[in-house]
Parts: sequence; structure tokens; C-alpha cells
Amino acid sequence: IQKLEPIYSGKAKTIYTTNDPAKYIAEFRDSLTAFNGDKKSEAPKKGYYNAQISRKIFEMLEENGIKTHYQGMASDVDMIVDIVDIVKLEVIVRNIAAGSITKKYPMPAGKVFEKPIVVFDFKSDEYQDPMINEDIAYALGVATYEEMASLKETALKINSILVPYFDKNGYLLPDFKLEFGRVNGQIVLADEISCDTCRIWDKVTKESFDKDIFRFDKGDLTKAYETVAKKLVPEIFE
Ligand code: C5P
Repeated sequence: IQKLEPIYSGKAKTIYTTNDPAKYIAEFRDSLTAFNGDKKSEAPKKGYYNAQISRKIFEMLEENGIKTHYQGMASDVDMIVDIVDIVKLEVIVRNIAAGSITKKYPMPAGKVFEKPIVVFDFKSDEYQDPMINEDIAYALGVATYEEMASLKETALKINSILVPYFDKNGYLLPDFKLEFGRVNGQIVLADEISCDTCRIWDKVTKESFDKDIFRFDKGDLTKAYETVAKKLVPEIFE
């Protein structure tokens, strides 16, 4: 597969057309943004570690029956993906209170939820990703009621696969964000699952090994992502 023209550059990835009319290449970059793009930086090898972690998680989810856009790697940082029509939602799953939910509700950081919480945000830089429900999603033409129900079910299934996976590698998974896309009449998991899109805490110390390190200047981001990569994708260090 050949990488052709860049057609879209997001906060952490650039999307390229390829010589396959049904596939794009998503290049994972070292750039970082937080707080709606107000805070920007670069971290060496961040793109590499996130690409490899995301690859591993997509492969693992596929083995567990979750359909994804993942179609292989074209290089260490170039992920081959199906061309999908992105559903304009961020589906967030929360197991432990952290981040924005602790600001919006009386939920102290670290509180373990009795059952996982699924939240839908409308993906819109202009409107700053406001939380939406199925009625608003339907009114906006973002997703049908059936799709919203199936997205929630899929998000919970993914959570039930990821929590034990991170646990056996020594980490808690307080929360993470998913995106989905439509291809050939079905909805598949899209975007990435990486240290940028998950909260990953050391099981014992509760130390962050995710983008909170950048958001709140908590230390060496590359080193933390490398630590997670050594656990999840040890083969790349051989
Ligand atoms: O900011 P907040 O606490 O709502 O984030 C919840 C989870 O979703 C975090 O793991 C965060 O990294 C992820 N997230 C994301 N992209 C966004 C918003 C949140 O990956 N635009």
C-alpha cells in the first residue's frame, strides 16, 4: 500500500489517501494538544508508542469479536484503516471518577463506580464537544436510536475486554474515549485507543501513565508511554 496525499490533519494524527480506494493511512504524530487545543506540545516517540499500543488493542479487540477500522500497519507509525464515515460522537466510558466528571458532578476523583458510566459527547470543536443524549443525537442527524443503543452496548463490551487486559498488565483503566465510523452499512470502532485517549493508572501507586502527564505537567510523557508500551507491546523492544 502506498501513502499518497494528506487530506486531513487532526490534533495527533494525519490522514493520507492511498492507492487503495477503500483505505486511508493514519499517521500517528508526536504532537500533543489539550484543553481544546489551547495547550500544545511535542513529545519524542509519542506517535510511535501510541500507534503500537493502538495496533495491539485493535488486534486484541478484533480477536474478541469487535469490528474495527484497523487493517494493519504500513510502518511503525502508519496505520492502514478502512475509509469510514465518522459518527460525530465521542463515546466515553468511565470506571473510576477522574477528569471532567469530577468538575461537573459531586464525584470525587478516585471514586470507583458501581457500574461503568457511558457518556456521549457531540464531536464538535465549534461547540466544544457538549454532552448529548439519544434525542439530541437523533435531532442532529448524528445517529438513530438503534445506533445509540448499539454504541452503548459495544462501548460496554469493549470496556469489559479492556479492564481485565489492563489489569493483567498492572494498570487501572479509569476512563477512555471511543469513536466509531460507518462502512458498508455497519458501524465499526475507529480512531485510536492509546495513552492519549485513555486514563491509565498504576494499580498500586495510582500514578498516571497517560495524557494527564501533559495536561497537568506531571513529568516525562515519553517515559510513561514507553513504560505502558513495554507492558502491552513488549515485542517492539526485542
Ligand atoms: O476530559 P475527560 O475527563 O472528560 O476525559 C475522559 C476520557 O476521555 C479521558 O481518558 C480522555 O483522555 C478521553 N478524551 C479524549 N478526547 C477528548 C475528550 C476526552 O480522548 N476529546
